[in-house]
Amino acid sequence: MVDNPASQALAKAPRTFFMTVRDIAFWLRSARADATLGRLQSERGLEQAFDELYATSPDPFGAALPQYRYQRQKYQRMLAMLPGRRYGDVLDIGCGLGVLTRQLAPFGEKILGLDISNTAVTEARERSAGFTNLEFAQDDVMAFDPGRRQFDLVVLADTLYYLAPLSDDRLKTIAGKMHDLLAPGGILLLVNHFFFTVDPASRMTREIHNAFRWSSGLNQVAEHKYAFFLASLLERAPWQPVAAPVVGRTANG
Ligand SMILES: C[S@@+](CC[C@H](N)C(=O)[O-])C[C@H]1O[C@@H](n2cnc3c(N)ncnc32)[C@H](O)[C@@H]1O
Repeated sequence: MVDNPASQALAKAPRTFFMTVRDIAFWLRSARADATLGRLQSERGLEQAFDELYATSPDPFGAALPQYRYQRQKYQRMLAMLPGRRYGDVLDIGCGLGVLTRQLAPFGEKILGLDISNTAVTEARERSAGFTNLEFAQDDVMAFDPGRRQFDLVVLADTLYYLAPLSDDRLKTIAGKMHDLLAPGGILLLVNHFFFTVDPASRMTREIHNAFRWSSGLNQVAEHKYAFFLASLLERAPWQPVAAPVVGRTANG
């Protein structure tokens, strides 16, 4: 458990950053992975493209590589943002190799990592042997149907770009899907990279976060800018019993 409930003021994030040589190397690596993915996707579709990417490059987004601070700090800061409570059911969408999923293990009863790539899911399972409350499933998030299961915490980090084209309608549909996956009172932690400049990726990130913030049924609890990502914490309105209609008394009782 962490000790900063959403209701408390969160620490102010610094507003300016400098990039180290390693940061630049990390973003070049990610750009290469995305370029390979784009080429594969046009030939074989998204699922096959991610499968092939993970098969040829074991950690294409540098999630577990200690030399890159972005991923390591992103996970630490995301966990520190979570309201201090114990979560029943947790869903990590676009879990990749399960690096963050494993770090979520102490926060919940049951954690489900979901990814479109079967190769990534198989690897995540192998890397998570010994974690008794983790499970992994392969599916496209937009097709994912958990039945009556709803989640007290849903994490959606650096995954939405792959659901492009992200038109206003599409963003509304995705936000609606997140709402339906959440239990009443449940928390969505949304993270996307952000560079504080007018580059297209940062503009898209701002649009994504605004669409979620203004979507019906999700209330923004906090937003932070970090090096180099934007993080929003959103809450699904708690369930409220429908008040029974008040039957008025007549003059005769
Ligand atoms: C850049 S990685 C992010 C991994 C992790 N969430 C993180 O923050 O380190 C994006 C992941 O999203 C997965 N993904 C992409 N589109 C998806 C979709 N439609 N449904 C489920 N997973 C998807 C990819 O396979 C990939 O593992």
